[in-house]
Amino acid sequence: MPETHQEHGIVTAGGGQSSAPVGRERDLFHEEARSYAEQLVEHPRNRCEIIVGDARRVLHDFPAGHFQCVVTSPPYWGLRDYGMGGQIGAEASVDAYIDDLVRLFHEARRTLAENGTLWLNIGDSYTSGGRTWRDVDEKNKGRAMDYRPATPDGLKSKDLIGVPWKLAFALQADGWYLRTDIIWNKPNCQPESVKDRPTRSHEYIFLFSKSERYFYDSEAIMEAAQDPRQKAKNRRTVWNINTEPYPGSHFAVYPRALVQLCVAAGSRIGDRVLDPFFGSGTTGVVCNELGRNCIGIELKPDYAELALERLLKGR
Ligand SMILES: C[S@@+](CC[C@H](N)C(=O)[O-])C[C@H]1O[C@@H](n2cnc3c(N)ncnc32)[C@H](O)[C@@H]1O
Repeated sequence: MPETHQEHGIVTAGGGQSSAPVGRERDLFHEEARSYAEQLVEHPRNRCEIIVGDARRVLHDFPAGHFQCVVTSPPYWGLRDYGMGGQIGAEASVDAYIDDLVRLFHEARRTLAENGTLWLNIGDSYTSGGRTWRDVDEKNKGRAMDYRPATPDGLKSKDLIGVPWKLAFALQADGWYLRTDIIWNKPNCQPESVKDRPTRSHEYIFLFSKSERYFYDSEAIMEAAQDPRQKAKNRRTVWNINTEPYPGSHFAVYPRALVQLCVAAGSRIGDRVLDPFFGSGTTGVVCNELGRNCIGIELKPDYAELALERLLKGR
């Protein structure tokens, strides 16, 4: 029988699975979200819970080995202002950002099964080129930080920062097994006005494992062979997936097709999946589709409500 955990920061709708008690963010509990939560509990196919709070604190309350995999996309460094104290991505330096993420994923690793994996989507950015301000984004004024962070030590203006690989190596040094990088190629990427380099059309997904041997269902994500008479082949490391339009007012969603591959390879039906940066809840929507249980942690109550709406609608 599903249960609500009203002592949580917010919302929840368990699919009958147990979840760790978290009770520190009671003041963030919105009336509107409560009604979503009640609807979700009635929702027969829902297997997700959402906890509002800072993932760095919320994760402490989960027991070791609770999750089979983590599928997530942290905020970019210095790019978007989510308007919340404690937000990751607003650190003054890229090193501080990476330290914050390493600490968070260190704790997430404790909550993973010994054979568990982390699927981490992360994009890169450029130094400011000497500018300390950004143009206002007319479509969404809350979208971009209104300043550009200082150029990190050792880099020049216009340098690509290399955030994904800095983070990957830092996580490797912290004990994670770095198993592969995957290029998420976006055939429908945003045009850029640059004329001195190619338009950036990819991000990374890194697959990390907690141990040398781990659960990975290669058959679940085989890809079609070029010759249709041949059998499907092992999934390659370049994934061509269009971005999806932002639902509601969240503006950094990753596409369901991308998350489907990570969840299908990283877990079995009924397993528990964690997304510590839940945003608009894409990981939860996919977990519901694929019969996985999911815990999403999100700092911003408005986004948790958006995620609830999406879970209710099922897309
Ligand atoms: C890139 S977005 C995730 C988008 C999500 N994958 C989706 O498809 O909607 C990152 C999210 O992390 C949240 N966030 C930032 N700092 C956080 C923290 N310390 N704990 C939990 N969530 C945080 C932001 O509010 C934002 O919604």
